[in-house]
Amino acid sequence: MSEDKKVRKKEKAAESAASLIKDGMVVGLGTGSTAELAIRRIGRRIKDEELEILGVPTSLRTEMIAIDYGIPLTTLSEHSSLDICIDGADQVDSQLNLIKGGWGLHTREKIVSYAAKELVICVEEEKVVEQLNKPVPLEVLPYATKIVEKQVEELGGTHVLRTDGSRGGYFVTEHGNLIIDADFGVISNPGEMSVALSSVVGSVEHGIFTNATEVHVGNDKGVKILKRD
Ligand code: A5P
Repeated sequence: MSEDKKVRKKEKAAESAASLIKDGMVVGLGTGSTAELAIRRIGRRIKDEELEILGVPTSLRTEMIAIDYGIPLTTLSEHSSLDICIDGADQVDSQLNLIKGGWGLHTREKIVSYAAKELVICVEEEKVVEQLNKPVPLEVLPYATKIVEKQVEELGGTHVLRTDGSRGGYFVTEHGNLIIDADFGVISNPGEMSVALSSVVGSVEHGIFTNATEVHVGNDKGVKILKRD
């Protein structure tokens, strides 16, 4: 698939998700290329429709983008209950379980999304699968990597310590931690895997999300909306 085609699908999904924002809402703002398209659309709506909303960013990168697009920001300390959170994902299964963390920012994304009444995800159709099967990112305290790798093996997985291609070193998160991508093959029970990974000592947070309420899927013709039953 050409890069242009992919971006158009992301755009459709992002615009559809951004159309859910209403005046007065406090909105979690996700991170990644698709979330950025949604943020841009929200910024345009604020201008055109004079919407008054507040955004809670899920990363420093998103904070900067939101400022560029004119979205007033707040924090979880000031607003611990959000109306909605809009974000992207790396993979979505038929039950709306997600794998996130492709950009290594899933810890803050998960925290912000859990404060929101609705978690609306926007993706291109290629990311939707019957069962999750991508490696799950774990944000790991740097001195605990070997201990975490051992626990991943005990859970039946293999592991790769994420590197930063451009600088030739390890990928370092906004919190100063490292990322281990843990591959478990097909994840037949994401709920159970999520609980198991939450008890891995030395891991701050993992990239399985079970709280999406809606997924907007961009395709060639338009957008398909998947909702939790
Ligand atoms: C950030 O850590 C991730 O969870 C992203 O939301 C996810 O990787 C999707 O990114 P893209 O929209 O860039 O594909």
